[in-house]
Amino acid sequence: MNKTIEDILNRRSIRAYLDKPVPEDDLKTIVKAGIYAPSAKNRQDWHFTVITNKETIDQLSAMAVVGMKRIGLEPKEDAHIFYHAPVVIIISSKIAGFSSVNVGCAIENIALAAKALGYGSCIVGQTRYMYHKANKIDVDKLIKIPEGYEHDVAICLGYPNEEPEAKPRKENIVDYIL
Ligand SMILES: Cc1cc2nc3c(=O)[nH]c(=O)nc-3n(C[C@H](O)[C@H](O)[C@H](O)COP(=O)(O)O)c2cc1C
Repeated sequence: MNKTIEDILNRRSIRAYLDKPVPEDDLKTIVKAGIYAPSAKNRQDWHFTVITNKETIDQLSAMAVVGMKRIGLEPKEDAHIFYHAPVVIIISSKIAGFSSVNVGCAIENIALAAKALGYGSCIVGQTRYMYHKANKIDVDKLIKIPEGYEHDVAICLGYPNEEPEAKPRKENIVDYIL
């Protein structure tokens, strides 16, 4: 099968990682794949914050967990929203028409580039709970979100330490007009 199609079909959300850093060259290639995603009118109104500092990754996860508790959710005591992955990439964008679609394109490019280079990844929307814990300006400053941009979603990645089965896909969700 074509390698790109194979990577698309075999990508899984990975929720267990080896305690092993991702080499800088690979990380740069993965981020570049995000930057080369399409965007409406080629606006590229997005920003990527690449975090490999373990203390910061743990801090962000802890903030999200406190935020979850604040709104009545009950995360596990040892919950880590990034599954202790060695890399977290936070994507933010200027909220405008199609910005979430653009970010979706970028984050999937990142997930697929990671897969192509032998890494696992998991898109993480739970970062949004960080904003229930702390002042928005403080969070934005901590994760270096530019003025006028809003945090969208994150992705964690690293060497996978599990091989999950594919989750079944829904049927009857495609119509063809031939
Ligand atoms: C926008 C978005 C947000 C997600 N947020 C989380 C998350 O916070 N935590 C998590 O473990 N997985 C998260 N996921 C991963 C989904 O749970 C996963 O993609 C889905 O269960 C299908 O599994 P697969 O990726 O292995 O095919 C998210 C996925 C997307 C697209």
